[in-house]
Amino acid sequence: MRVRVELTPSAPEVAPPGWPRHPRRWTGVAIDVLRASTTLAFALRNGAARVVPAATIEEALAWRSREPRALLCGERDGRRIPGFDLGNSPAEYGEDVVRGRALVFASTNGSLALRRIARCGSRWCGAFVNGTALARALSGRSHVLLVCAGKLGRFALEDAVFAGWLCERLAAAGATIEGPGAALARALTPADTLETKALVQGSEHGRYLRSLGSAYAADVDLCARLDVIERTFEV
Ligand code: MLT
Repeated sequence: MRVRVELTPSAPEVAPPGWPRHPRRWTGVAIDVLRASTTLAFALRNGAARVVPAATIEEALAWRSREPRALLCGERDGRRIPGFDLGNSPAEYGEDVVRGRALVFASTNGSLALRRIARCGSRWCGAFVNGTALARALSGRSHVLLVCAGKLGRFALEDAVFAGWLCERLAAAGATIEGPGAALARALTPADTLETKALVQGSEHGRYLRSLGSAYAADVDLCARLDVIERTFEV
């Protein structure tokens, strides 16, 4: 297995050096610890039928007009988009709400990471809550691209920390970890769950979300927890 990390999403057509040209030969993992990939890991575990990433609110509304039973999901500045069915808190994506439903998902950064992996042969959401289950699901794959969502095109600490954590697990299972993005991410790998919590809570977006109130602070705490989800599902 060869593994690479993008610290922010590259354009869909960019192929990592020395990798097969077509993304269908890759396995893509979208990482947006706060909060999109955490939320979607729960939504998929709770039976959501599929996820349609939308880069803009307009795109999401257009998709919904074509598929009226789809749930409109997303946030701007962390808050639910007015008129949407769901925001971006894992707490909103219970089984009674999402089972069997398509999710049209328009979050600020996570949706763009999902778009980056849209043409990959298989696509996954990566976060601490499903970390070990994901590492297990990735075993045996040849080219694994970890795409950190970042924040507005900039580096996001919490995403790189999880990418580093996952790289360590995959390397321990024999994977070849390539490139500068992975090298930096591995250097940030937390030593234990206490350090994970401190890094996620102390991150720029972690501090911002916590400033929005207790429900958001609870989300941040959940996003820093390891292996809450035992089985993970393709996007
Ligand atoms: C995003 O996709 O930008 C984040 O998940 C935003 C958020 O915290 O809801």
